[in-house]
Amino acid sequence: MIKLFHLTFILLSILSFVGKVILSETHPEVVKQKAFTIAPHVINTVLLLSGFTLVFQGGWLSTEFGWIVAKLLVLIVYIGLGIVVMKTRGTTRWLAFVGAMACFVYIGIVAVTKNAFFFI
Ligand code: HEM
Repeated sequence: MIKLFHLTFILLSILSFVGKVILSETHPEVVKQKAFTIAPHVINTVLLLSGFTLVFQGGWLSTEFGWIVAKLLVLIVYIGLGIVVMKTRGTTRWLAFVGAMACFVYIGIVAVTKNAFFFI
């Protein structure tokens, strides 16, 4: 149940991020509206809380939890790159965007494989 909630908010999070980037390119004035600044924070807070709930519910801290540490570290990079995306324009913005997407995919694969080094 919580996992479904987690997966739903992952989808909402990536949709709101990509949607905001597209809107800021096409309709920059719309992105400044309160709803577009507050909603992503609400979505991402719920996503984090559902992740933390799953950590405790699954008893992951008493087993193999390296993958959760990896998820959290890359999540911090993802958030940082997201800030760069929203604050810059041009090549910097798009490089940060590609980096953020790579982080997101990495986090997803780590969640499924439970292995931070799945690529080795
Ligand atoms: C961008 C952020 C995140 C993405 C893309 C993501 C992705 C996923 C996915 C795809 C699953 C399902 C894995 C499966 O069913 O095999 C999952 C489960 C899970 N996630 Fe996340 N997650 C994110 C953030 C977090 C955070 C912040 C935490 C907490 C530190 C967290 C902790 C967990 C836990 C404990 C599970 C359940 C694992 C299990 O019981 O199989 N996630 N996540």
